[in-house]
Amino acid sequence: MLPQITATRFLTPLREGGSLPGLVEASDCGTYVIKFRGAGQGLKVLVAEVIVGELARRLDIRVPEMAVVDLPAAIARYEADEEVQDLLKASLGDNLAVDFLPGSFGYDGSRTPSPDEAADILWLDAFTANVDRTWANPNLLVWHRQVWAIDHGAAIWFHHSWPSRGADAARFAAQPFDLSEHVLRDVAGDLAAAHSRAASALTPEALADVVALVPEQWLEPAPGLDDPKAVRTAYVEHLSRRLENATAWWEAAS
Ligand SMILES: Nc1ncnc2c1ncn2[C@@H]1O[C@H](COP(=O)(O)OP(=O)(O)O)[C@@H](O)[C@H]1O
Ligand SMILES: [Mg+2]
Repeated sequence: MLPQITATRFLTPLREGGSLPGLVEASDCGTYVIKFRGAGQGLKVLVAEVIVGELARRLDIRVPEMAVVDLPAAIARYEADEEVQDLLKASLGDNLAVDFLPGSFGYDGSRTPSPDEAADILWLDAFTANVDRTWANPNLLVWHRQVWAIDHGAAIWFHHSWPSRGADAARFAAQPFDLSEHVLRDVAGDLAAAHSRAASALTPEALADVVALVPEQWLEPAPGLDDPKAVRTAYVEHLSRRLENATAWWEAAS
């Protein structure tokens, strides 16, 4: 399970991000980026953050620690900015906390990851259909001279339309991925080797363990997926099928 913490103070909204995340202090004395359950795109974005962020960790890609942060009503009450207060009020309860990397800066190519690290990130993005890693929007931070991956909420889009509208596992498994706009395209090393590393790290047990980290209350039922257990199984099924089908999306792209 992800650690469970409670927000003790809201510090500031992070205006750079499209989803208006914020900064909070929490009961464990840590400072976290909070990704709000009430931020428009809904709980599925938080689910994608957890699944793809934890898949990244399995591939030894640097990602900040994550936790589930409870946002109490008292914190929302004292926020002066109306837009932010509305978001806080819509987000009481469990939100996603991402460990804040103080002094980090957005990736600008001045400090590149190693060729293997870059290839691993490229592979992760192709596997999870993450289009949110371009020069316009790198979603990579440089911290302590290393590259860290953040913001995976747009990946694994299939859950936005399941169980119908093409959200079946076979379609996701075969969906090609276009690497041409990827921010690490030019620094990535051996792509075939990245696939071998990833395929051996992401065993069926690893996929199930990663999906098991998603808090049950974020797994909303959908037609044909009646309870959180069925939803969890569907995530594992989609990811497993895509992994088995790498010729369709990886060899074609690389
Ligand atoms: N863990 C973190 N540490 C430091 N800064 C962060 C962290 N996460 C996000 N940020 C900053 O906040 C911005 C928005 O966060 P991001 O996760 O990309 O959300 P959005 O979905 O809104 O783009 C990032 O571009 C970055 O500047
Ligand atoms: Mg972002």
